[in-house]
Amino acid sequence: MMKLLHLTLFLLIAIENAANANGARHHHSPKKPKTHKNPRKLSHAYAPSPTPTPTPTPTYPPSIPSDPSRDPTQPDDNTNTTCIFDVTEFGAVGDGSNDDTAAFRSAWKAACQVENSVVLAPSGLVFMITSTIFSGPCQPGLVLQVDGVLMPPDGPDCWPESDSHQQWLVFYRLDDMTLTGTGTIEGNGQKWWDLPCKPHKLIRFFMSNNLVVTGLRIQNSPKFHMKFDGCEGVLIDKLSISSPKLSPNTDGIHIEDTKSVGIYNSVIANGDDCISIGQGCSDVDIEAVTCGPSHGISIGSLGVHNSRACVSNITVRNAFIKESDNGLRIKTWQGGTGSVSGISFENIQMENVRNCVIIDQYYCLTKACRNETSAVYLSDVTFRNVKGTYDVRSPPIHFACSDSVACTNITMSEVELLPYEGVLVDDPFCWNAYGVQETLTIPPIDCLLDGMPQSLTENSLYGC
Ligand SMILES: *[C@@H]1O[C@H](CO)[C@@H](O)[C@H](O)[C@H]1NC(C)=O
Ligand SMILES: *[C@@H]1O[C@H](CO)[C@@H](O)[C@H](O)[C@H]1NC(C)=O
Ligand SMILES: *[C@@H]1O[C@H](CO)[C@@H](O)[C@H](O)[C@H]1NC(C)=O
Ligand SMILES: *[C@@H]1O[C@H](CO)[C@@H](O)[C@H](O)[C@H]1NC(C)=O
Repeated sequence: MMKLLHLTLFLLIAIENAANANGARHHHSPKKPKTHKNPRKLSHAYAPSPTPTPTPTPTYPPSIPSDPSRDPTQPDDNTNTTCIFDVTEFGAVGDGSNDDTAAFRSAWKAACQVENSVVLAPSGLVFMITSTIFSGPCQPGLVLQVDGVLMPPDGPDCWPESDSHQQWLVFYRLDDMTLTGTGTIEGNGQKWWDLPCKPHKLIRFFMSNNLVVTGLRIQNSPKFHMKFDGCEGVLIDKLSISSPKLSPNTDGIHIEDTKSVGIYNSVIANGDDCISIGQGCSDVDIEAVTCGPSHGISIGSLGVHNSRACVSNITVRNAFIKESDNGLRIKTWQGGTGSVSGISFENIQMENVRNCVIIDQYYCLTKACRNETSAVYLSDVTFRNVKGTYDVRSPPIHFACSDSVACTNITMSEVELLPYEGVLVDDPFCWNAYGVQETLTIPPIDCLLDGMPQSLTENSLYGC
């Protein structure tokens, strides 16, 4: 599988090199972008990039030219040169008001038949399309390249009655597919945020494998910006996701039932979780991501309605989390089963974050949840080199483990958190949490329990 991922990445780079003379994708904003206070400490031998990516401005850079002399509906004779299916050659207008859905569907349908082909939404144009399922199976190597702007109709009043209100762009049953470009996917979320109803996710990948999403700016989603479910092999690189701080449920990247995921070199600012990891995820590697404002990086919520959740082997390294309601969070409902294990947070810089490090096994939206006797079992969770400042409105460290199922093997090493401003809140909280401190934690915690709980059952409820 990793071989395929590498192959996909190689193909992507090859396509970009061949086609994209304008390599610049990030433009410095006039304001100097914030960098890590201590880049040296955050750098890591395996770090793809030791500093966070600068925030790009919402400009739409020029892109690759296409070859107008070629009939786009016909594949090239030369089977392994890249075939470009430019949506404007399929009737897309790109003036921001014409409905270009049919053109995108036709271009996709044609490209789907051809190996290594590119559906191109060229730069300088704004394409409006309605809710669309881009489905496969397609020939391998298919690329959707958005160099212009792609957006849904502006708000619920313009949303076609017959369209799904749950989702906008769906990529379904694809293998070896790339979504890339120097352009912007604009969610037009503003008019949905004020509504009581749950609006749609912007981009969803469903039951697809070996996916690459890179380079794009994705903004103002009505709900989650991107969701992956039922996927295996996902590489996300150099994304910029942004929505206002006060936009509800606008999670940056949400994954569930998804395995082998890499999220790298991305900058996410939004109104909910920066990255959220739901049930059924394993082998997830997150590195060089900047979050904030946001609700931090979250595993969960898991175990809702007494469900079983299995999450394992999640690594977050070299992240910068700022101005966020949470930093690193694991949240589970009472009454769930299954386990969360092998979680490692390493080299994390915090700036003005509430609940920097939090395990909450009593997650409840109504505050009226019953006490239950089972829980998703948490074990082997490491916080290493987590430093920076917290918002004093919440204690920086909080481990509320289940009454009935203790958390075990929590490792704290070089965790040093100081108030961003105001008075030190040094009352870290632990309930039923077992683990070790390899170095002295700041603020000091003396509530972690030694060893293993006596009652820890080899209970099949908690196996995965
Ligand atoms: C192009 O395809 C042919 C036949 O499939 C293959 O022999 C050749 O090596 C390919 N060339 C490149 C550059 O991949
Ligand atoms: C954990 O996940 C990484 C990818 O993030 C993978 O390379 C590694 O093999 C996994 N480890 C185990 C023990 O499965
Ligand atoms: C749940 O348990 C806690 C702690 O034992 C107790 O304080 C609380 O009253 C219980 N809640 C309910 C609804 O039984
Ligand atoms: C504790 O967790 C670490 C990784 O987080 C793991 O390497 C170690 O084997 C675990 N120890 C026990 C006793 O399970």
